[in-house]
Amino acid sequence: MTQNQNEWQTAGFATRAIHAGQEPDPQTGAVVVPIYQVSTYKQDGVGNLRNGYEYSRSGNPTRTAYEEALAAVEGAADAFAFATGLAAEDVILRSVLNPGDHVLVPNDAYGGTYRLINRVHTRWGITNTPVDLSDLDAVRAALTPTTRVIWVETPTNPLLNIADIEALAAIAHEAGALLVVDNTFATPYLQQPIALGADIVVHSTTKYIGGHSDVVGGAAMIAAGAKVPGSDESVAEAIGFLANAAGAVPGPFDAWLALRGLKTLAVRVNQHCDNAERVVEFLQDHPEVTEVLYPGLESHPHHAVAAKQMRRFGGMISFRTGSKESALQVVAKTKVFALAESLGGVESLIEHPGLMTHASVAGSALEVPEDLVRVSVGIEDADDLIEDLKQALS
Ligand SMILES: Cc1ncc(COP(=O)(O)O)c(C=O)c1O
Repeated sequence: MTQNQNEWQTAGFATRAIHAGQEPDPQTGAVVVPIYQVSTYKQDGVGNLRNGYEYSRSGNPTRTAYEEALAAVEGAADAFAFATGLAAEDVILRSVLNPGDHVLVPNDAYGGTYRLINRVHTRWGITNTPVDLSDLDAVRAALTPTTRVIWVETPTNPLLNIADIEALAAIAHEAGALLVVDNTFATPYLQQPIALGADIVVHSTTKYIGGHSDVVGGAAMIAAGAKVPGSDESVAEAIGFLANAAGAVPGPFDAWLALRGLKTLAVRVNQHCDNAERVVEFLQDHPEVTEVLYPGLESHPHHAVAAKQMRRFGGMISFRTGSKESALQVVAKTKVFALAESLGGVESLIEHPGLMTHASVAGSALEVPEDLVRVSVGIEDADDLIEDLKQALS
């Protein structure tokens, strides 16, 4: 558990990402936080801990530095790092919900999120309703007296729908519920949910924050003063307790890799956006492409909301090809875009969500179209990316 460092609060985004929680090592002056590859810490007498460190499940200096940086870039009071994005989601939900509680989930959420809520948490008495979060009347209608969380993902994976964070925060708070925002696709650089009223932000840091496809991880960032619904307990304390009690924390090297990634988030994301805009332009004009899904397009149904709450529109694009066969052909033929799950790394990736990342929601309300292709646009030269898609679509 960390407290945001006041001294960096007024600095710009990139400065916070590079410096918050990352003072040069007091003993050696090392400008990069060391990897404290250690499980336990010598005590100066029973319970007399040095800087609070006792055992690395509970706390580790590399992880602390990373958590302070995470809190600083999201404008959060506290941040907790986890072994994966889903571990972060699981701890968030189990910290703030009790059996009998109800959750609203996006009807196009990441498949793994829905699987967790619908196939794991239901066994512990949590109910859920998938809802179109871009339809605020539908959201209000889906609330029940036991709704304790509205779970938001924006943009959504893989349909790139947009939800209005500010409007949903108002609806959640009026209903006595918390607003949790999965900010994985947007990144804290493009979108700041806490400033828009969110109580908790969650990330798969496996994606843009890590940024190099070399580490899996997750994070939960908590707004100042957030309370567990129906009680006086602080959300940060509840999450900190369960993170330690259940133990799905990242190891020191994983925390260090993600922290290194975070330092370059702003420059990488700007390049992802530049390249995505070029690729969108190309796809829109291509006769084999029947629809391009990208919130930066003025024709996107939620473009106005995206423009209100995002700095730019990100590096993720989905498109439709008219048939499952043609979609599968495209993903099989690219050479620069690697056929792989995941996203947000420097290298471009392509996938068929229906058979890959979202196979777990086949047959449910969250099933995705079979002719859908999703690309994570990397930071290679845009001309090479376009040439590659051109030959794959030919
Ligand atoms: C939007 C979103 N949230 C959460 C997750 C889960 O993260 P992880 O794979 O790190 O557990 C993913 C993974 O793809 C994702 O795309």
